[in-house]
Amino acid sequence: MALQFPIYMDHAATTPCDGRVVEAMLPYFTQKYGNSGSRNHRFGWEAEEGVDQAREAAAKLIGATEKEIIFTSGSTESNNLAIKGACNLYEKAPAGSKSRGHIVSATHEHKAVLDPVKRMVKEGFDATFIEPGADGIITAEMVKAAMREDTILVTIMWANNEIGTINEVRQIGALCKERGVLFHTDATQWAGKMPVNVDTDNVDLLSWSSHKIYGPKGVGALYVRRHRPRVRLQALQDGGGQERGFRPGTLNIPGIVGFGKACEIAMAEMEADALRLGKLRKHLEDSILAQLDSCAVNGHREKRLPHISNISFGFVEGEGLMMAVKDIACSSGSACTSASLEPSYVLKALGVGDELAHSSLRISMGKQTTQEQIDFAIGNIVQAVKKLRLMSPLYDMHKEGIDLSKVEWAHH
Ligand SMILES: Cc1ncc(COP(=O)(O)O)c(C=O)c1O
Repeated sequence: MALQFPIYMDHAATTPCDGRVVEAMLPYFTQKYGNSGSRNHRFGWEAEEGVDQAREAAAKLIGATEKEIIFTSGSTESNNLAIKGACNLYEKAPAGSKSRGHIVSATHEHKAVLDPVKRMVKEGFDATFIEPGADGIITAEMVKAAMREDTILVTIMWANNEIGTINEVRQIGALCKERGVLFHTDATQWAGKMPVNVDTDNVDLLSWSSHKIYGPKGVGALYVRRHRPRVRLQALQDGGGQERGFRPGTLNIPGIVGFGKACEIAMAEMEADALRLGKLRKHLEDSILAQLDSCAVNGHREKRLPHISNISFGFVEGEGLMMAVKDIACSSGSACTSASLEPSYVLKALGVGDELAHSSLRISMGKQTTQEQIDFAIGNIVQAVKKLRLMSPLYDMHKEGIDLSKVEWAHH
């Protein structure tokens, strides 16, 4: 099939909705449009049935029970509910302490975790943000070293959204269990892509999102453990008591039905998808690294999700690189903040310098990604980097063997 441009390689940002998901959702807009809270008629019952089925599929995907699933608007909300909800209920201030309790997280978490934690700090809690090493992995040892007597919550993501690295979730969970501390994981990039069992993985609270797994946007879930321990949370909002009071408000029924279908499909297809994408990623990275010097794959090479590749290219300028690869819809190592381009704080947390962070690409593949598309991406990237380096005096100096770190630049 002829390639269509731009080629979508940004599946860590979002995924297209699967046709089977759309089909499952459609009746819930115009035919089965009841409110699942309506107990007295067929419309309500059939909406409730749709939600129940979705809840079953979501629970099954992560090895939970239906009652442990709270539907939300996505991972941002799930993270907020988990973090703020747990802090507000489990606060403990030891005698003489000014803090309401201590939270452990990491510097390269998603903003949807960092910001709720920072909010809790403003409201009287203490937090420790663990700094990862160059491999980007958070280990149980690191968490152990960060924990305190008054730690009430550990929130560490399962896999990182920019570099795909996988943290030691099961071991961190075991440590938390041993200490009686709640463990939340933002599994947005993991759940539906790789297997989860909340019991053997020792997780108390887990967030994930429909739009990362070929479901609709604006829907997700929070898993809340009900046994050993029974986790309680303070809701973020008050209202009609839906979702067992954790998340009041009329349910987004078509969205939830679509999310459930996406979970069901993920359960059946994740293994084959991961295997195929892992091979494509290896081909992509091997080919690029074989043809270009001075570039590096960011994060641990093995302990990574199979579909995400984050590569820094030395001696090219970030904006120029993005322009030169505009046929590939991928992410750069720059984040647009209010007025300027900031280097990715995730790459910076790994010790990647500002320049290199700017000239990094995150390529994230998905179900529709083909070998042909990857071959195009390889050719396009290699050609672009070579061309940009032709214009780089620094690259010439580097090729001549000059150690650029020792050069004394004249300042004007
Ligand atoms: C790791 C991680 N957490 C949270 C989010 C936010 O998810 P949502 O878009 O469902 O609110 C994302 C999405 O970018 C993510 O990658």
